[in-house]
Amino acid sequence: MRLWGGRFSGQTNEAAAHFNSSISFDMRLYKQDIIGSIAHARMLGRQGIIPVADSEKITGALAEILADIENGALEIDQQAEDIHSFVEAELIKRIGDAGRRLHTGRSRNDQVALDMRMYVLEEIDSLNALLVNLLNALLATSKAHYRSIMPGLTHLQKAQPITLGHHLMAYFQMFKRDYRRLANCRQIADEMPLGSGALAATVYPIDREYVREQLGFSAITENSLDAVSDRDFCVELLACLSIIMMHLSRFCEELILWTTDSVGFIEISDAYTTGSSIMPQKKNPDMAELIRGKTGRVYGSLMGVLTLLKGLPLAYNKDMQEDKEAVFDAVDTVKSCLVVFCGMFENITFNTAAMQKSAKGGYTNATDAADWLVKKGVPFRNAHEITGKLVLYAIEQGKPLEELTLAELRLVSDIFDADIFDHISLNASVNARNVTGGPGEGAMLEAIGKARKFLEEI
Ligand code: ARG
Repeated sequence: MRLWGGRFSGQTNEAAAHFNSSISFDMRLYKQDIIGSIAHARMLGRQGIIPVADSEKITGALAEILADIENGALEIDQQAEDIHSFVEAELIKRIGDAGRRLHTGRSRNDQVALDMRMYVLEEIDSLNALLVNLLNALLATSKAHYRSIMPGLTHLQKAQPITLGHHLMAYFQMFKRDYRRLANCRQIADEMPLGSGALAATVYPIDREYVREQLGFSAITENSLDAVSDRDFCVELLACLSIIMMHLSRFCEELILWTTDSVGFIEISDAYTTGSSIMPQKKNPDMAELIRGKTGRVYGSLMGVLTLLKGLPLAYNKDMQEDKEAVFDAVDTVKSCLVVFCGMFENITFNTAAMQKSAKGGYTNATDAADWLVKKGVPFRNAHEITGKLVLYAIEQGKPLEELTLAELRLVSDIFDADIFDHISLNASVNARNVTGGPGEGAMLEAIGKARKFLEEI
């Protein structure tokens, strides 16, 4: 059924009708659409805009339609133009003329804006629940490994020793910000647009506050033109999702490196790896690679919707129908990535001995030797120079710094004494970095405590 047949004498071209239709993807908004319509119909009856008896018939039939879709008794007709037309046509089929009163004081423009906002708010809640699962997993593993030494890198070169717990807590901070970003996006999107009509509101004495209250929004939109044209809440969600994917992708890249034979810091369980059809020895980190790969399509959705909106004059334009597939695909993608990533992460075996061994090589305690000299009164720049020479000497001898003898140290500078050996062991090096945010034991326990508090309070 066309909702707009009256003005037309000719039929729509078949290819054009198919091209125009959004039912194949907006059908997933059936629940939001029906719940929004129930709130609207109730308000119409309450305000005396339509007879109360009709309002009751409408809300009763809409509830049945919703139940029938959910239990499979009613199939969504793919010939319909969109989900709004489908629900209205089905309503009229069931209750006749009373159903024809539902669309009083409403347009599909404010209706679709409402449906999308309801969808976005709900999805933010499920995304954040998945982020909380990941945060809990990260915190538990960080706690278990807050003293497990590993090499910290810059430029992918060994830099200074840190702990596995410290490294994982870095990701905790990223995903914590992602959670907060989504919560902030939700707060901004939490405005009820119904009542904006096609663009210039409506002549009927509607009660927007009543509709808002029924649907659980915090506020109502304050400009009808803006409310039907605005999709910045979609852009913002897509930006949040892109950042989550960027974080997941970095993490996946590290996990992939850590599984390699040459690094060997972790093993991902069989449940989250796959084999090769030709090389029997292979165990590939496909999940991590796929998550890294899927980052592209989420960025693509963000770029798509930004580009879609940039030249649109006010108010509604059909271009805006194109927001949906981008948002739906990005939400689905990020949700599946979070589920699989979290499962994969919880099934990793960490080879702490390999990490410790790797941290021992590469002169990651050179800064500590320089810092020791500074404590003895040597200016940092000179200390850097002396330690550089010491590293060069140690490389020539094929030994780590802590295995040089005092006599050897003194070949480079006579300031060295035996006390230095207490300061350049890996444990000493890590634990000396005890300022807030650092890898030292005290600082790590502080960070873990704060993280736990964050998770308890949200
Ligand atoms: N399917 C449309 C969309 O997704 C619904 C709104 C239609 N409004 C209109 N004026 N044609 O944007």
